[in-house]
Amino acid sequence: MSVLPVLQFPHPLLRRKSRPVEDFGEELAALADDLLETMYVKGGIGLAAPQVGQLKQLVVVDLHASEEDEQPRAPRVYVNPAIVDRSGETLIEEGCLSVPEFTAEVKRARRIVIQFRNVKGEPEEEALEDLAAACLQHELDHLLGKLFLERLPPLKRQMVKKRLAKLAQSA
Ligand code: NI
Repeated sequence: MSVLPVLQFPHPLLRRKSRPVEDFGEELAALADDLLETMYVKGGIGLAAPQVGQLKQLVVVDLHASEEDEQPRAPRVYVNPAIVDRSGETLIEEGCLSVPEFTAEVKRARRIVIQFRNVKGEPEEEALEDLAAACLQHELDHLLGKLFLERLPPLKRQMVKKRLAKLAQSA
């Protein structure tokens, strides 16, 4: 397993749409493992393949990734995920490994049902709520080339983009 570099805003690949996965072989399994390892090392609870420059519909999630979390790790891999039902509304504080040192509350559906393939290519379905639902919606946005910044109200988004542009200049 290796830790991969995570692309940072405003890298152009973060704005591209990812393609569905068609090959469920060893290469895909290895990429999923690398994504999980990278997510654990960088301290996130979700990571999408386009964030490491691979435009594939693949995301990994572990709501218990944090070192402080007393529950055992629970790695999940979602390939070609699609939301088939959504309901309710929730406001959850989000961050992103591609947008360092910034968090904001984002409005999401409170409950979702997703259909996806596991890493072997078998179809699965899951119903998720609250943090799990928000996290999946955030990661699915990455597959569409969208960052959580674009889900903020326009004024807030402008402020944030200015601040991030400054940060990028001084780096
Ligand atoms: Ni993200």
